[in-house]
Amino acid sequence: MSKQKHTDSAFQKCINFDCQAEFDTGRSLFKCPQCGDLLDAQYNWDRIEVPDKLSDFGKRWANRNDRLDFSGVWRFRELLDFCPDKYKVTIGEGQTILQNNDDVARYVRMRPSCLYLQYEGLNPSGSFKDNGMAAAFSHAMMVGAKSCACASTGNTSASVALYAHTCGLKCTVFIGSGRIAFGKLSQAMDYGAQTIQIRGDFDDCMRQVQDVCTRLGLYLLNSLNPFRLEGQKTIMYRIIEGLGWDVPDWIVVPGGNLGNSSAFGKAFYELKEMGLIERIPRMAIINATGADTLTELVNNKKLVWNDGKVEQKIIDDYYADLTDRNFSPRTCASAIEISRPVNLKKCLRSIDICNGVVRAVTDDQICDAKAIVGKYGLGCEPASAATIAGLKHLRAEGIIAADERVACVLTGHPLKDPNVTVSYHKDRQGQFCNPPVEAPNDLDEIIKLIK
Ligand code: F0G
Repeated sequence: MSKQKHTDSAFQKCINFDCQAEFDTGRSLFKCPQCGDLLDAQYNWDRIEVPDKLSDFGKRWANRNDRLDFSGVWRFRELLDFCPDKYKVTIGEGQTILQNNDDVARYVRMRPSCLYLQYEGLNPSGSFKDNGMAAAFSHAMMVGAKSCACASTGNTSASVALYAHTCGLKCTVFIGSGRIAFGKLSQAMDYGAQTIQIRGDFDDCMRQVQDVCTRLGLYLLNSLNPFRLEGQKTIMYRIIEGLGWDVPDWIVVPGGNLGNSSAFGKAFYELKEMGLIERIPRMAIINATGADTLTELVNNKKLVWNDGKVEQKIIDDYYADLTDRNFSPRTCASAIEISRPVNLKKCLRSIDICNGVVRAVTDDQICDAKAIVGKYGLGCEPASAATIAGLKHLRAEGIIAADERVACVLTGHPLKDPNVTVSYHKDRQGQFCNPPVEAPNDLDEIIKLIK
């Protein structure tokens, strides 16, 4: 693989069919300056020396004292070649594992050896966000950003705060007051970010942060930033790697602001275009029922990508109805408590690319699934467990077969949200609860209690 870099290997492009305006990568944009729609990072693949086969990336494991080869993001750097190496930021993200788990498979009624769990909670800040931040902060360094900001349901703020102090950027994070899990709030404060709690929900924060960034010229790190999604593509490369450079039949992912699903579809599309994979897996995107905009729009209102000619009126009418009802999303999976997902259109494109399906699961189903991942796997936070609950649903419906190979993306670490876990077990909230047993300070009494 060549070490040579081309500054003209990438550009930004508006996804709107009627616009498709292009901009160079040296600009810091979070929406198309011409039409206001979403931007993609795009590549001149003929100017990039991409390896002939994906397994060539595996050779970089032998060179792990090179900081870029050590990164689970930059190990795949030819597939996100938008900035020179000298700007690339890494804190060791992407050392995550794909675990085959037959006990969880039994819970969702899948055959042994068919279910795989991709533990993105093993990242430095404890969530998948670090993949995207490695990429977005590299872009921030390339454009010379000095201050940055994000809105967050928690994990983005933790990850941004960590990368910001690593890169020497000033950092402000916006969170909905009382809306984020304590593990995540504790990280934002501990990593030194200025934390602004807005009296509102994530969607309010998302609106405010865009205006703040525009007014003050701050670098925005939400997934509106096209370079963030480039980093998140690497989660799929690592799943393929974990399967011996083979693609699964299904990817199951939680749906919140819809950055992941957008990035994953793009990753597979590009790999297929380059002939690096032969087929594209299907994708299931799982909402919580209390924050189910995607499910409503796709399954009930029949919103589709339609080659980029998305029927905006369906979205506008739906959002107007949310506003009329003064609707604010509610779910124990606070990470995905979002009703106006900013990447909606890109997600529709992924559904198109991956022949995707969308489902919503209840908080009870999420908490039971989370307990199962805790009991038989490495654990995860509630939003991540939506994947297992959704898979159970899709198995019962017969949409996913028992012998298909499925990879669920477990997006966050179990310690992100100890409150949900403790309530579930201690207050006996579900069928898999494991409450602590009160005991007197007496040896014989204690011994009687040991099962
Ligand atoms: N899982 C976890 C643990 C998350 O933190 C998020 C999003 C998602 C799933 C949903 O991913 O937005 O790509 O569809 N968290 C964002 C945040 C919104 O601010 O931390 P998505």
